[in-house]
Amino acid sequence: MTTLSGIRACVFDAYGTLFDVHSAVACHRDRLGERADALSALWRQKQLEYTWLRSLMGRHADFRQVTAEALDYACDHFGVADAALQHDLLAAYERLDAYPEVADTLRRLRAAGLPCAILSNGSPDLLAAAVAATGLAGLLDALLSVEAVGVYKPDPRVYRLAVERLGVEASAIAFQSSNGWDIAGAAAFGFQAVWINRAGQRRERLPAGPVAELTSLAGLPGLLDLD
Ligand code: LAC
Repeated sequence: MTTLSGIRACVFDAYGTLFDVHSAVACHRDRLGERADALSALWRQKQLEYTWLRSLMGRHADFRQVTAEALDYACDHFGVADAALQHDLLAAYERLDAYPEVADTLRRLRAAGLPCAILSNGSPDLLAAAVAATGLAGLLDALLSVEAVGVYKPDPRVYRLAVERLGVEASAIAFQSSNGWDIAGAAAFGFQAVWINRAGQRRERLPAGPVAELTSLAGLPGLLDLD
């Protein structure tokens, strides 16, 4: 396993990496029946597509709006005409579960003197709610949102935010994401990108890729030689 060297800060994608995006639908699985998993997957897929498309169109709207519009599409697709359920699913999106190893990993990194930050498509209010609900607020040095630049990942302006706000050069930042396309964007920008490949997906065919691959964040301290 490659060890990363020269790392001075750790930056994390939020949704899918620290927080389980499918935990919102899991809260209301009984109301969705057997459509639950497929609806959750389509909701996530459309949410991401809308971020990319809005960025290309130059028509930014914040992640809360994009998430609501993607859910509306997914509900329409599956014939779920239930405004109360849509409301409840969006409310649940503000209280997603964190993956079980996240808090301990952040503690170990910070104990080793490495600042930890989120860099996410999420709007500042959504990110603040997510870290408060999961008790992670005190373990993160910064919550960096694309709202500061008004465009979504993988636009390089987003990744540059971390360099500017943390005052650490790109090559000294370990960037973790479960999203292969986000890893490609981060690596193309110049981060040392670590793919947290939770779902066992294939490598993206894109012009830049990860320096290392893990199945969860638990292996990150070892990768940084902190064990
Ligand atoms: C984020 C999305 C990509 O948190 O999951 O930025």
